[in-house]
Amino acid sequence: MAETFIFFTVKGGTGKTSIATLFSSWLDQQKKKVLCVDADAPAYNLYNLRQRELSEYQTNPEAIDRLVPEDSHSIYPIIKLGSGIEERQNLIHIKQKGLFDYIVVDFPGSLTDSNAIALIKEKFVDHAILPTILDTSVIVSNIKAASQLKNFIQDVRFLWNNVLYHEKEEIYNEHTQTIQQTYGIGVCHHKVKSTSYMRREYGSDQIFIKSTLCYPAKTLKDKKLDYESVFNELINSKI
Ligand SMILES: Nc1ncnc2c1ncn2[C@@H]1O[C@H](COP(=O)(O)OP(=O)(O)OP(=O)(O)O)[C@@H](O)[C@H]1O
Ligand SMILES: [Mg+2]
Repeated sequence: MAETFIFFTVKGGTGKTSIATLFSSWLDQQKKKVLCVDADAPAYNLYNLRQRELSEYQTNPEAIDRLVPEDSHSIYPIIKLGSGIEERQNLIHIKQKGLFDYIVVDFPGSLTDSNAIALIKEKFVDHAILPTILDTSVIVSNIKAASQLKNFIQDVRFLWNNVLYHEKEEIYNEHTQTIQQTYGIGVCHHKVKSTSYMRREYGSDQIFIKSTLCYPAKTLKDKKLDYESVFNELINSKI
C-alpha cells in the first residue's frame, strides 16, 4: 500500500506547492515510485508547472538534458484530482494496489473543499504536513486545522518553512513547545530555510529547485537548503 502525504494549510502562500514539488522530485531521486496529485482546483499550480516544463523541454531539450543526471528516471506522473466520488475511489484504489510507494498531494487551502475533505474522511491520508511560516495568523489557523485533521489522520505535523537566516532559534522553539505541549500537535525538527531558489522555476541558470523534471541541484543540498534532512524526517519518523 502506498503511503500518502498531503501538504495542507488554510492560509495561502505558505509553501504547499513548492515543498510538495521538491518532495516528489526528491522521492523520485531516491528511486521511490511516486505519484503526485494536484488537488488544488481550480488553480492546479503543480500540474501546470509540469505542463510549462514539458513545453520548455520541447523548445530547449539540450538545456534540460544537461541538468538531468545520467542515471535518470522516467518522469513521475502528476495527475489532477477532479471532483466526484469516482475520482476519489480511483485514487483510493491506486493507494491500495501498491503501484506506488508514495502518493504526494498538493491540497487546496480550505477546510470547506468538500471533495478534498472527503479524501481525508475516507482515510486516504496517512500524513498531513502543514508548512508554516512565522506569522501569527498562519500559526493560529494551522493549529485549528491540525486539531480537526487529527480526528482523521494519525500523523499531523507542522513544518517550519521560509526560515530566514537571521531569525532567532528561540522564537521557533517557543512556538514549537506551545504547539506540541498545549495542542498536542507534532512539529518537524528540521526546518525549510528561505531561499530565493525556491521561487525559481526552470530557467537558464543551472541552479533551480522548483522542478518536476529535474532533480534539485546538489549545491542547494550542501549549502542553502538541507531538504534531504527534512524529507528523511518526513518519511522516517512516524508519530
Ligand atoms: N523556503 C522558501 N524560500 C523562499 N521562498 C519560498 C519558500 N517556500 C515558498 N516560497 C515562495 O512562496 C510563494 C508561495 O509558495 P507556494 O506557492 O508553494 O505556496 P502555497 O501554499 O502552495 O500557496 P497557495 O495557497 O497559493 O497554493 C512562492 O512564490 C514560493 O516560491
Ligand atoms: Mg499552492
